[in-house]
Formats: sequence, structure tokens, C-alpha cells
Amino acid sequence: MNYTNLLIENRDRILYITINRENKLNALNKATLAELHDVITSTSHDEQVGGIIITGAGEKAFVAGADISEFSDFNADEGRELAREGQSKVFDVIENSEKPIIAALNGFALGGGLELAMACHIRIALITAKMGLPEVSLGLIPGYGGTQRLSHLVGKGKAMEMILSADMINAEEAFRIGLINHIAEPEQLLQKAEEILKKIMTRSPFAVGCAIRAVNAAFNEGVNGYETEIAEFSNCFDSEDFKEGIAAFIQKRKAVFSGK
Ligand code: COA
Repeated sequence: MNYTNLLIENRDRILYITINRENKLNALNKATLAELHDVITSTSHDEQVGGIIITGAGEKAFVAGADISEFSDFNADEGRELAREGQSKVFDVIENSEKPIIAALNGFALGGGLELAMACHIRIALITAKMGLPEVSLGLIPGYGGTQRLSHLVGKGKAMEMILSADMINAEEAFRIGLINHIAEPEQLLQKAEEILKKIMTRSPFAVGCAIRAVNAAFNEGVNGYETEIAEFSNCFDSEDFKEGIAAFIQKRKAVFSGK
């Protein structure tokens, strides 16, 4: 697939996905979502990709939301389809990716943009970034998992306030309430994301995938997370990574993991 709305670059096994609709503040239109689905799914078993960083083009926005111009005349059925398809094909796929995915928020992360960031495993924001779920000011509510993931990340009370007020918060407040993992100073956003991702990439990719599934199970209604943990823990014992990790420990050397 040729991407017209994304810039894709693989450097040292980190796949950089830059949402590239700068004149629309990188708003997520249908084509961009389809490209995101394609790139995440097509690299999920690519050994040349150890982790992913998602960011936005330009200096102003990470992503300023879903593209409002595309759903302005939708009815209820079309709205349901928009949310269902977006959630299952993009946001859930990102959240359940076995490869670690970091969102590097270089500016506004609003509506679908914040929902995209929240589906990622880790979030780092530039000190000047602004985050919010402004949908109720448009007569809508978040539809790409925002009501759920924000509640999971910051708790019900803060999520209610952010969603009902539609207010934006700055990076310091986002850090304080646990919405983002780190704040980056100007020029250091990608550097900080790379530093974290490179550390994760020295660990067992097999175990990292198991850990992502186990942590996600804690927030998946109807799934017993403790049972998922037992199953994933047990899977690790059959992996080559486990044998390598133990051997390296005993031989007092650095493990070289295959991810198998
Ligand atoms: N969907 C479609 N287009 C969008 C967009 C979105 N979510 N967010 C920004 N844009 C477009 C604007 O329409 C404008 O396009 P134009 O130049 O063709 O008119 C361009 O991006 C620049 O945005 P603009 O509003 O002029 O920039 P600003 O600096 O004045 O304001 C924001 C920045 C982020 C505060 C403002 O763009 C905004 O509120 N965006 C919508 C946020 C939102 O409600 N998201 C949730 C959607 S469900």
C-alpha cells in the first residue's frame, strides 16, 4: 500500500509513523485510518520492526481529532459504523499490538488524536502539547474508545471532568494525572521516545508481547486478567527467548533475543 497521509521510516528497527496532514492539523480522515490499519497490521510480524513511534507532522498538532468534515451529515447508523470500524480496525489493533508503540505528542492531541495516543502503550508529550476530548462541544461524545481508555488511565472522576467540560489540559496536568508517562522539553520529544523504546527492544520481544496482552486483560471486561497472566506466563516457558534469557543470566552475558 502506498501511503499518502502517513510518512513511514524505519531507522534502527524503530518504525516512525508520522501522520502527515499538517494543513488539517493531522485530523484523522477515513483514508488516514485505513493507512494506519495497514501499516500496523503489515508490520506486526516484521522482524525488522522492534517498536513503533507515532507522531504528527509539523509543530502545531499531533492529531486535532477525527476529521469533522467527513461525518458532519451522518445519521445514527453511520455514526455507529464509524465508531465500530475505527475501534476494531485501528485503535484496538494498536492497543493489542505485540510490538511496543509509543505516542509522541508534538502538539494538540484532541478527540480522536488523544484517543489514538491513549490506544498506544506509552505516551510522551512535548511540554507545550495540549490534550482534551472536546466532543461534547460538538454535540458528540468520544467514539474511538476515549470514554473507556481515559477512565482507565486517569480514573473516573478526572475522566468525567475532562469529557464533560471538553476542556484541554496542558502537559504538566496530563503528567500529574497519569495521562502521559513523560514530558519532553523542546527538541527532545523523539529522543525521549527512542530512549524508552530502545530499552524495551533489548528485552525479550516474546515476553514483551505476553506482558502487553496480560496488562490489557486487566481492562477487558469479561476476561479474567489473572487467568490471562497465568496463560501468558506459562507460554513464556516454551519460548526460545526464555532459554536465552536464563542462559545469558547464568553465563553473565547480555541476552540476544530472537523473539521466538
Ligand atoms: N477535523 C477537520 N479539520 C480540522 C480539524 C478536525 N478535527 N481540526 C482542525 N482542522 C482544520 C481546520 O478546519 C483548518 O482547516 P482550514 O485551514 O481548511 O480551514 C485547519 O485544520 C487549521 O485549524 P484551525 O482551526 O484554523 O487552527 P487553530 O490554531 O485556529 O485552532 C484547534 C486549533 C486545534 C484549537 C482547532 O483546529 C480545533 O478546535 N479543532 C477541532 C478539535 C476537535 O474538536 N476535535 C474533535 C473532533 S471529534
